[in-house]
Amino acid sequence: MTRIFLFLFQAFTIALLTSLEARGASVLAFGDFRGHLEPCGCDPRTDVGGIKRLAAAVTRYRAVSPDVVVVHSGNLFPLVIKDKTEAQGISKSIEIIRPDASLVNETDWSLLSTKEPLPKVPWVLSNMREKKSRPEISEVIRAKDKEIYGYLGLQNKSLVSFNQDLFSQWKKLSKTKSAADRILIFSGTDAELSKVSNTKFFGVIISSNTTKLGIEKGDQEQKDENSLMRSFSSKFLAWSVPFGGTGLLRQGGLELTPFPKTLEASVTSTSLTVSRPPSTRLTFDKIAPVQWLTPGEESGTPEAIVKVFDDVREASRNQFRFLVAQRSKDLPESEFAGAESCASCHRSSYDVWMKSKHATAMISLVNRSRQEDPSCVECHVVGFTAKGGYVSETVSPKLSNVQCENCHGARKAHVENPLNAPKVDAKASCAECHTPPHSPGFDMTSYWKMIEHK
Ligand code: HEC
Ligand code: HEC
Ligand code: HEC
Ligand code: HEC
Repeated sequence: MTRIFLFLFQAFTIALLTSLEARGASVLAFGDFRGHLEPCGCDPRTDVGGIKRLAAAVTRYRAVSPDVVVVHSGNLFPLVIKDKTEAQGISKSIEIIRPDASLVNETDWSLLSTKEPLPKVPWVLSNMREKKSRPEISEVIRAKDKEIYGYLGLQNKSLVSFNQDLFSQWKKLSKTKSAADRILIFSGTDAELSKVSNTKFFGVIISSNTTKLGIEKGDQEQKDENSLMRSFSSKFLAWSVPFGGTGLLRQGGLELTPFPKTLEASVTSTSLTVSRPPSTRLTFDKIAPVQWLTPGEESGTPEAIVKVFDDVREASRNQFRFLVAQRSKDLPESEFAGAESCASCHRSSYDVWMKSKHATAMISLVNRSRQEDPSCVECHVVGFTAKGGYVSETVSPKLSNVQCENCHGARKAHVENPLNAPKVDAKASCAECHTPPHSPGFDMTSYWKMIEHK
């Protein structure tokens, strides 16, 4: 019964999509990856889409509607790039998707001097003071009968904040009489957005949510949520790109969407949290043309991008294996004992733990073939970042999964002499792993209840 229902639902979704696609979208926009190559899978509510899904969708649209203009609002990387291989993977993938225009956004701007790992794509920025110094960046890009401009509102001496001179310059640059043919990719403050939007020079403004928008409350998350609300707000006639590759913004006769319309999000320069339904906090019903890309939509990812992913995975496996060689040496002096050695004296605690998801945290990684990915292993085993902690499934199986010592601290000395009892605040440990992107539903009271022991 459920199966039939699911099948019908899928068939309906596909049919609806096809009919929408057949009508053709004239602009597709995406952006603000901030380093999120792929969802981690820790919680479906923070599924940020990822590049595979996005590339598959863009490919589908281009097949149906070859004239579609694909614009990208930049900000591919977090402000601090921790994983260079992954950054290069993002970069290569974007080169393969090849948008018609990419805004030089905040993080891209900060990377311009180093160039690495910025992709070679058609970059656009229309408010630079000295255009000649950046030949790789266009002031305006003409693609498929459209003119694409880019605006970055940073307090920076190399950039011009929107004013009449800049506007006259844009008018001189333009070769079309119709505003409908002009697209602006925008990133800046509310005030700038409102000025630019009031000129009615652009038919479409694609706004990228930046930390500069809607600064009213001190709290970062509050600020970011405000900014999202604002850039979606119709008073600016601007649409905000879905971030992190969660979705595509479509313009061109598309009003219906079979995808969920609610979204919760907070973005900071280093982390991104997006929760999809159930949520009632922000409702963007009036902003119809966003197509959220749902899990499973990776089928149809271009081969070249699948290859980039395979290469990134290979690199992280190699890094893991390098670490195995390094870290094995520290095991003999390990201060970790492993949960088995606690069982004899703390039977009831042990039994509670054995039944908890912590005791099988590694299986979740194995199921996704990520057991040799340092960026995942970190939170799914004992002491991966500590000396003498987990090395690998074969070298240190006793330290696999989340165990007593993740919360109570290393305890070998205590096993040898129970009087040796370090004072560790076990409850303080949760937040190290149950961070908003990985555990958006975490709350101490209900979570502790699930694993309570003495
Ligand atoms: C040989 C028996 C024995 C073993 C093995 C043992 N413990 Fe204990 N543990 C004790 C005793 C005895 C106490 C003290 C009880 C008290 O003071 O009420 C204790 C206290 C504790 C406490 C509470 C006080 C504190 O230090 O925070 C924790 C937590 C704890 N043990 C965790 C562990 C863990 C984790 C392991 C395995 C790595 C372990 N114990 C292995 C006997 C043992
Ligand atoms: C910052 C710590 C952290 C990192 C890094 C991390 N995880 Fe997790 N993961 C968690 C936590 C915490 C949960 C449990 C979330 C909850 O239930 O609230 C979890 C849950 C999961 C689950 C869900 C298990 C289930 O119940 O179905 C999967 C799968 C998973 N993680 C895979 C990964 C993969 C793959 C990576 C690397 C890309 C990764 N994790 C990186 C902390 C982390
Ligand atoms: C996810 C974290 C976590 C894991 C895993 C965990 N514990 Fe605990 N444990 C706690 C917390 C939190 C408390 C309550 C401490 C408090 O209230 O300050 C606690 C309490 C205890 C106590 C009682 C301490 C006291 O002061 O009375 C013992 C003993 C204990 N745990 C042993 C274990 C053993 C043995 C294991 C593994 C088999 C284990 N715990 C796994 C977090 C954890
Ligand atoms: C070292 C990282 C780490 C720490 C510390 C940690 N957890 Fe977890 N927790 C995880 C991971 C990973 C999972 C998911 C396991 C899986 O299924 O793969 C998880 C899952 C859980 C779950 C199961 C959630 C569900 O939906 O079934 C509960 C409950 C939980 N943790 C509570 C806690 C509490 C309470 C603390 C602090 C006392 C804590 N955890 C500390 C990593 C951690």
